[in-house]
Amino acid sequence: MDDSFIRGLPKAELHLHLEGSFEPELMFAIARRNKIDIPFKSVEEVRRAYRFSSLQDFLDIYYRGAGVLRTEQDFYDLTLAYLRRVHGDGVRHVEVFFDPQTHTARGVVFATVADGILAALKDGQSQFGISAKLILCFLRHLGQDDAFATFRQAEPYFGRIVGVGLDSSEVGHPPSKFADVFASAGAAGLRRVAHAGEEGPAAYVWEALDVLQVDRVDHGNRSLDDPALVRRLSDEAMTLTVCPLSNLKLCVVNDLAQHPLKRMLDLGLRATVNSDDPAYFGGYVGDNFAVVSQALALSRSDIVTLARNSFLGSFLSEAEKLQHLAALDRYVAVPGA
Ligand code: HPA
Ligand code: ZN
Repeated sequence: MDDSFIRGLPKAELHLHLEGSFEPELMFAIARRNKIDIPFKSVEEVRRAYRFSSLQDFLDIYYRGAGVLRTEQDFYDLTLAYLRRVHGDGVRHVEVFFDPQTHTARGVVFATVADGILAALKDGQSQFGISAKLILCFLRHLGQDDAFATFRQAEPYFGRIVGVGLDSSEVGHPPSKFADVFASAGAAGLRRVAHAGEEGPAAYVWEALDVLQVDRVDHGNRSLDDPALVRRLSDEAMTLTVCPLSNLKLCVVNDLAQHPLKRMLDLGLRATVNSDDPAYFGGYVGDNFAVVSQALALSRSDIVTLARNSFLGSFLSEAEKLQHLAALDRYVAVPGA
């Protein structure tokens, strides 16, 4: 499938950690601006350090990188750089994660983080025509009490945050640990998503559905181990936000040719393609579409389904979804596209 068809294809990105879009060049610039020493001499040295054997291995480096973000301007620059980059990938809408606890634990106040991000999302709409929604992720290794404290800090922002998510170290931190804070989020009218079945078992995906009542499952790869779960996900048209390059770099799959994305589509699951942490995993959403399409020999119709699923699985209104799907149909109908 030719690359320009994929790059131009209208799409949404639904699984992106803003802190994971922190490119080494910007990290150096912000570290200098904030007069912070980082233990690397060059951008190349940083990139060479990005070899991971597991999710935890990655998270240790990811949290250290995020440590140079201090001011509202830093969060603004991080967010706008991401939007500028995906503008060239046909992205029309994004639903992005941020990890406030990574920052508040270092003494950065919640409002500094949220205000910087929200200002950039607004400017991204006017500069690049990309609409955006923001999702607050709880760090599962910190437990539910800490999540509740963050939830309370976020309360003044509930009109500007579409939902809550759950990320960080999965194994040993099942979704059920966060039942109460997710129930409170639901009662406050927030949408709910959770990372599940990335390294953790299919049982964690069941818990995300039954206990956390999620609207989407982030990753969900291990769902394929359990036929009854596959039926449930298919019956409910549950969106899975799949991240091929992330799965490769974190050794969730050994080879992209063995990635479960094609099987998910063939099983009737509503899979989408996303980048997760593009600065660390070697590619933005367009790259993820391109490499996985190549590795799995996806058909043009599979690729269009993935783009269609990205809008269907979003938290846009039904009318907005229809507008995006119509634009997608127009793009696909152009001869030679
Ligand atoms: N999984 C869990 N936590 C994360 C990830 C991920 O892929 N990326 C950033 N935080
Ligand atoms: Zn993720």
